[in-house]
Amino acid sequence: MNLKPNLRVEIAGIKMKNPVMTASGTFGSGLEYSNFIDLSKLGAIVTKGVTLKKQTGNPGPRVYETPCGMLNSIGLQNKGVKNFIAEDLEFLKKFNVPVIVNVAGNTIEEYVAVVEQLSEKDVVKGIELNVSCPNVKSGGLSFGLNVKSAIKLTSAVRKTTKLPLIVKLSPNVGNIDEIAKGVEDAGADAVSLINTILGMAIDPQSFKPQLANIVGGLSGPAIKPVAVGMVWKISKAINIPIIGMGGIMNCYDALEFFLAGAKAVAVGTANFIDPEATIKLIEELEEFLTIKDISDISDIVGQVKV
Ligand SMILES: Cc1cc2nc3c(=O)[nH]c(=O)nc-3n(C[C@H](O)[C@H](O)[C@H](O)COP(=O)(O)O)c2cc1C
Repeated sequence: MNLKPNLRVEIAGIKMKNPVMTASGTFGSGLEYSNFIDLSKLGAIVTKGVTLKKQTGNPGPRVYETPCGMLNSIGLQNKGVKNFIAEDLEFLKKFNVPVIVNVAGNTIEEYVAVVEQLSEKDVVKGIELNVSCPNVKSGGLSFGLNVKSAIKLTSAVRKTTKLPLIVKLSPNVGNIDEIAKGVEDAGADAVSLINTILGMAIDPQSFKPQLANIVGGLSGPAIKPVAVGMVWKISKAINIPIIGMGGIMNCYDALEFFLAGAKAVAVGTANFIDPEATIKLIEELEEFLTIKDISDISDIVGQVKV
């Protein structure tokens, strides 16, 4: 008889029961999902992006469903770090699950100020830097689109906190491996990828864009091959762990990411379709490994046969 496989992983010092995390922005701070699932069963909860000040986000419509994914232009709607600490962290501290806070800002100073406040809180076990935000000082170009600005931001945050630092990479670049290497050298403990891919949809009746913001970020099954390809490319360029995401709907999707080189995975859009998607994925992974007689999830990381 097969023994239960080991699903435990450690990413950048964060100990997780299993390698399944929530993708930022698709799980809030878990409050709504706690009506459906036991949050303590997750590997880690990654919260919605938090900024220094409260943000109302973009005007609607800001979500549009496409044949195999969705476009969104939420625009980082959030309550600001002070309220996040008082309300969301207060709620999350009741659960036995590592909390990783996704952080955003318009300037390096804003990122640093948010991370400083979060670093004082025991319940926060890691920071995920969303480098896809507009760098106001560079005229709105995202930090994550350029090696130099990604390094500058990562170094500044690295000096601010001892917490494990995960940098979340944008796929909207031609040199994601160079950016990954840059942030590794600047002190990142792990990278996560991919964020959404820039896209647009148009209503042929009205001739108008489907999103009020005109363009938005594509997520869901449509982006999985891009994400898997980028994880594989980066796994050859860096030595720090990779958290993979983009279109994971079930165990077979997640397995592609592990085989490509991800040590953990995150589920995003699938949560909107099925609030139990993460829990089902954990169960399916355990079943898959048991049937295959693989004793540890880490044994398949990077094992794609090329
Ligand atoms: C509605 C929505 C909001 C998101 N908000 C954030 C965010 O605040 N910060 C961030 O780093 N990524 C954000 N993302 C990106 C996701 O975390 C994830 O990287 C992306 O959706 C790909 O995974 P998926 O295909 O499983 O959804 C958001 C995605 C969606 C769909």
